[in-house]
Amino acid sequence: MRFDFPNGFRWGAATAAHQVEGNNVASDFWLLEHAPGTLFAEPSGDACDQLHRYRDDVALLARLGFGSYRLSIEWARIEPEEGCFSRAALEHYRRVLACCHEHGVAPCVTFHHFTSPRWVTADGGWESERTASRFARYCERAVAHLGDLVSIACTINEANLPASLALTGTVPREGAKRRLPFVAEAARRCGSDLERFSPFLLSDPFRTRDVMLLAHRQAREALKSGRGDFPVGVTLAMQDLVAVPGGEVKRDEARRESFDPFLDAAAEGDDFVGVQTYSRTRFGPAGALPPEPGVPVLALGYEYWPQALEGTLRYAARAGVPLYVTENGIGTDDDAQRIAYYREALSALVRCLQDGVDVRGYWAWSLLDNYEWLHGYRPRFGLVAVDRETQARTPKPSAALLGRVARENAFDPDAFG
Ligand code: GCO
Repeated sequence: MRFDFPNGFRWGAATAAHQVEGNNVASDFWLLEHAPGTLFAEPSGDACDQLHRYRDDVALLARLGFGSYRLSIEWARIEPEEGCFSRAALEHYRRVLACCHEHGVAPCVTFHHFTSPRWVTADGGWESERTASRFARYCERAVAHLGDLVSIACTINEANLPASLALTGTVPREGAKRRLPFVAEAARRCGSDLERFSPFLLSDPFRTRDVMLLAHRQAREALKSGRGDFPVGVTLAMQDLVAVPGGEVKRDEARRESFDPFLDAAAEGDDFVGVQTYSRTRFGPAGALPPEPGVPVLALGYEYWPQALEGTLRYAARAGVPLYVTENGIGTDDDAQRIAYYREALSALVRCLQDGVDVRGYWAWSLLDNYEWLHGYRPRFGLVAVDRETQARTPKPSAALLGRVARENAFDPDAFG
């Protein structure tokens, strides 16, 4: 039953800057979290204070057995005002990446993970093509400073997420911002109006997809022509899309509008696609269906469906480039459920590899219990618990199990749990 992964297969855990660093005050999300009437359950505040505790976190990740850390660098810290690049912020990230290498950990660096500087969002954000060139310029500056320490680069995290949420009926097709009064208030607070104020998750979903595609292409160019030599790709939010009889047309539309534009872009010049899977979505003749009766529903409203990873990897393989699982995991207070989830998900991964799907790495979401956006700190995705008062880190049993898989580069479902 033991499966040995190919030599060089990467194992890691993932986080994102805004979710763990703390006090990301120049970002648009900070503004949204603090706007009167906000829908965010709580503000991000100090988060996991990783800004100051990164050495401990990297050392812990290495001790657990992982050889890679997927983290993001924060545009709002690096370019807090237009054209004003902070050498100190870049130096901070240089220390973070150097610390990874000191521990034998290969950094997988994401350049945009949902948050943007306020000034970008106030001036058209992800509905404006200007943001694509501004993003590429930031990538160019960042890689000039950090490129020699980057092992893998992800341009944009889940660049298809707004389109995907619209296609599953989670947000309106024209975008959410006009329906949410606190967004208008956040816009006003940074001297913008609602027309121009366009944060990633709330703006026009299909316009955002197109601007992100453009931004990804421009950023890829900047990263590939800069310092360092590392694979570059985009990461995608990929639930397994499944048709019940009669649902094929709607499922195919969702794949075509959400996944295919990025898979096509990858085929034309990316080194990999980052697949991020948590669950499945079923489609009927009228569109996305609610969870199937009898299937457990998780805190974020979707089904407990760990085997989803098999379908998404097989679909993403059509890009014809190597795949990385850049996120996979479960938000639960029950670590036994997390272990069961990873056992199923890794079994799905093994089936794909056995069939020749070219998967090169796997990063669990997440290293730490962290700030889950609108849901605040309630959902716990971490392999490591974080005490919200003391910031003390306590690895859960799932961390030891996944760490052993990483160390041995082998997985035996019977020995997992
Ligand atoms: C996403 C993000 C992460 C989330 C994770 C859990 O997929 O939304 O990349 O930031 O925290 O997915 O929901």
